[in-house]
Amino acid sequence: MKVTSECIKNNYDKSNAVEHYLSKYRRDSVKIEWEEPFSCSVFKQAIRLSNKIKKDKLKVLDVGSGTGDGYVLLSKLFKEDKEISNYQLDYFGVDISPQMVETANDLYADESNVRFECEDIRNSSFTESFDIYLSCGVPYSHLTNDELYKALKMIVTNIRKHHSRCAVVVDVLGRYSIEWTPKWNESRWDYAMSFFESEGHAEPTWMSFYSHNDLQNIMQKAADAVGCPVEKFEFFDRSIMVGRHTSTGQFNPKLPRYRNLINSLLDPSQETELSKLIFQVEFTSAPKHILEFFEKFSGWWNLLVSQAAEILDESIQVKFVELPQEVQGFKAALKTELQQFSDKRLDRQKVEFMLAQVLRQLEETQQPGYGVGHDLFGVMWLDATEL
Ligand SMILES: C[S@@+](CC[C@H](N)C(=O)[O-])C[C@H]1O[C@@H](n2cnc3c(N)ncnc32)[C@H](O)[C@@H]1O
Repeated sequence: MKVTSECIKNNYDKSNAVEHYLSKYRRDSVKIEWEEPFSCSVFKQAIRLSNKIKKDKLKVLDVGSGTGDGYVLLSKLFKEDKEISNYQLDYFGVDISPQMVETANDLYADESNVRFECEDIRNSSFTESFDIYLSCGVPYSHLTNDELYKALKMIVTNIRKHHSRCAVVVDVLGRYSIEWTPKWNESRWDYAMSFFESEGHAEPTWMSFYSHNDLQNIMQKAADAVGCPVEKFEFFDRSIMVGRHTSTGQFNPKLPRYRNLINSLLDPSQETELSKLIFQVEFTSAPKHILEFFEKFSGWWNLLVSQAAEILDESIQVKFVELPQEVQGFKAALKTELQQFSDKRLDRQKVEFMLAQVLRQLEETQQPGYGVGHDLFGVMWLDATEL
């Protein structure tokens, strides 16, 4: 393991962080069924459009790799996805925390295509070329806007030096998540990580929060500074209703515990009070398009919840709205499915499971990439082949 003096100097006590990332409780049903597949789909798009799919080896740099969750997601994608499975993954993770790096190297010691090193992205410079510059778990939110700009500029400089055509995936915290409506007017604040399983005390952790425009401007500025053309940008919101803090209520105590409720829908041993799933969020001021999005999205969400309730002979009054095409068949699908059962308990389990599926589909297909989820992924495809 390479441990630079910068890493040691900048390292804060991460031992409880390592415990948190390895805890089995962290991988709840929402993480497994909603969040990880969504991240994989973003990675897949980044890979497909990077044009490197034509090569037999795909070199990935994972910035802020922690204990290697990005590697786990990528290897699943490489194993299961037909389009990608022919390619060999060459993975390099970097993280500022020596404990994370040491743990990750121990965990994947037997895999020859994987390595982790200690690096502070704020003052690293890479010499190797990569096909994808990945991130997940919002590592770039630890940086200030200026530090993010400099880190991206360094990455684009490397891309230009190697005349690469590749993708940069920047994962940050969404500024307008319902998890922190009282903080919507601030773009950097102390996000103490008190949801660690080991609890104890929460370290003050300053984090930056981004809207689509803020993030795109920084990414574009970094590309312009190096003179590298951007082929395309795409933005994706992950976990609009189910971010980690819809479970803790830490930054918005009045918020219904949506993540727990979705976990309950997915747990056959639990019965969920469907009325609690109704979207009830008090907003503070935000740009018009953000408020308009939530107005629309909450109508769809509530109608789907009320359709599930109706099938179970419970009544939840909501406004009638036209559902997006992707989820329009929900009520009919419920009816068809329930014709197969005569047992009331099984009916309920099935309805709750199907409701969780359709709400996930709603989030996945209607997310606008505005910064309205827990994570905002910005993907930038660059082409430096002609430079
Ligand atoms: C929430 S964790 C995500 C870890 C992993 N990518 C995952 O998805 O589980 C954020 C990671 O970013 C790392 N990090 C924070 N600041 C960093 C920096 N300046 N350079 C490199 N890594 C950094 C932290 O040590 C931490 O491991």
